Amino acid sequence: MQANLDSASLASRASHPDWLVEAVATDWPDQLEDILDASNARPPLTLRVNLARQSREQYLQKLSSLGIQATPGLLANSAIYLSEPMPVHNIPGFAEGELSVQDEASQLVAGTLRLEPGLQLLDACAAPGGKTSHILESEHSLTRLVAIEKEKSRLFRIEENLQRLKLAATLVCADAAVLASWWDGEGFDRVLLDAPCSATGVIRRHPDIKLLRTPEQVTELLVTQQQLLRNLWQCLKPGGLFLYTTCSILPEENQAQIRQFLDSHHDAKYEGIAADWGVECETGRQLLPSTSSGADGFFFSLLRKC
Ligand SMILES: C[S@@+](CC[C@H](N)C(=O)[O-])C[C@H]1O[C@@H](n2cnc3c(N)ncnc32)[C@H](O)[C@@H]1O
Repeated sequence: MQANLDSASLASRASHPDWLVEAVATDWPDQLEDILDASNARPPLTLRVNLARQSREQYLQKLSSLGIQATPGLLANSAIYLSEPMPVHNIPGFAEGELSVQDEASQLVAGTLRLEPGLQLLDACAAPGGKTSHILESEHSLTRLVAIEKEKSRLFRIEENLQRLKLAATLVCADAAVLASWWDGEGFDRVLLDAPCSATGVIRRHPDIKLLRTPEQVTELLVTQQQLLRNLWQCLKPGGLFLYTTCSILPEENQAQIRQFLDSHHDAKYEGIAADWGVECETGRQLLPSTSSGADGFFFSLLRKC
């Protein structure tokens, strides 16, 4: 009862809904206040340097010569934080594809996929294409990259981003969970499922989530995520890697979702992610929103098909 009262008063002080504060208080009690403070803070403007064109150091020097203050990220080797926000089209080299705007947590995805020349890769929920383009920047010799997005207007955003960066992928407008609508039956070596989720790790970027997200929506998302996981698993070749990510901090969408999947798929093995960032959980690695880190809240789980 006391815990409920405390959560309610914290919820009102932090302008978060009671249900969400109670969930975070249960799952991340030690980090609760920091998560709420970080979720109410102004998000940084984070860039991803296109390392295929220049090093991060070279781009930092370019910014410095133009009098623009910036610092390197500590987690991803491509990440730069601009000290002051500016319109994206004014960022030096943006139109020429020297950089993209992308949170540092998302910049960890391409490295986690263990890319190699010749691989066939599926990016199942791809728009606006931040991770699609980073994968292509990171590995130029993929045999194919299929990027699926179910919203036509959002598929267009992927096209725009790839054109600016002079990259190419096979773009498909489809519901990724309905394999018959898009899959030719040829297996992938890597599958990235950046799943639709509660977005509770990115509230600072979308403060309306505090008003609009409901526990009932989270329950519906759990069904969608499990369905995407189960169906897309069929597209993965034996020996291939499946990376499940969300920008959620709710364990039910993350480690519990993967636990449920592993319990019902004996050809799936949790691979683990060797890294020094985030909180290591039973079936993944969780970055939490924090006032002492620039990265969004984000979950990663890497599975291998036996
Ligand atoms: C978290 S966002 C993906 C962000 C993207 N991976 C990036 O890095 O830029 C989730 C995307 O999945 C799309 N989506 C949701 N359900 C889908 C489905 N069943 N099939 C394909 N796309 C879906 C949404 O429209 C949304 O654009």
